Amino acid sequence: MKIFNSVPEWQAFRKTIVFNNKTIGFVPTMGHLHQGHEDLLRRSVDENDLTILSIFVNPTQFSNPNDFHSYPNTFEEDCQIAERLGVDFVLAPTYEECYPDNFKYEIHEKEMSVALEGEYRPGHFVGVMTVVMKLFNLVRPTKAYLGEKDFQQLHLVKGMVKAFFMDIKVVACETTRAEDGLALSSRNSNLTAEHRRLAAAFPQLLQSKLSKEKVVRELDSLGFKIDYIEEKYGRRFGAVHLDKVRLIDNVEILK
Ligand code: PAJ
Repeated sequence: MKIFNSVPEWQAFRKTIVFNNKTIGFVPTMGHLHQGHEDLLRRSVDENDLTILSIFVNPTQFSNPNDFHSYPNTFEEDCQIAERLGVDFVLAPTYEECYPDNFKYEIHEKEMSVALEGEYRPGHFVGVMTVVMKLFNLVRPTKAYLGEKDFQQLHLVKGMVKAFFMDIKVVACETTRAEDGLALSSRNSNLTAEHRRLAAAFPQLLQSKLSKEKVVRELDSLGFKIDYIEEKYGRRFGAVHLDKVRLIDNVEILK
């Protein structure tokens, strides 16, 4: 497995490899890999000749600087996981190389990006779509693997690919959950043991047949601070806080 920290080096390398007839799978991440990321990587390795993983904690998508600065960095361990799973290349650029324009150019979407997460994290999806556009242009994958855990992100990226005629298939991957149902997330490791136990109530209530209003009341009485519980796009979405840790999730509404 080869690791690229420099964008120009990656670009030079990308040109030398004859990817003709080879399929390239791409998994963009911010590192601190967990089982959810591993499932995406496994699927990409399975379905493609080559798999590229990117690890880049993208500052432009964080509305809260503390959240950015406390984002866990486990680069060595991440590379070991990637190697074990059969990833071929890791792209881990610096901010300066990823943003030679210093974020003067942006990708905007005007509908889905202002709902739900977009309302509570202004500017978040501008940062996400801009960096994904950059990474897609650098990697030029056949298929990109994104998780349903971040439903809006997945669909905004799908929409962007379509709007800009990018020749990439965006593959939606099911949310990987812990045994108690909590969606795996890099942020879960910041939960105290007590909050980690309590956190399981969040997906359980989201998936329950209780009305939206009752779910809000239950979560509130358990001590969750709620950003939103909303039903949209045939799904039930939620974002809650336990102390400083923010959890998001979404489930299909079963009739
Ligand atoms: P990150 O949070 O590291 O997630 C990388 C990918 O893993 C995303 O597609 C996300 O939806 C997926 N993922 C995370 N947890 C998952 C789970 N429990 N089950 C299934 N998939 C899961 O999302 C980002 O990074 C960034 O916004 C990024 C797209 C890399 C742009 O900076």
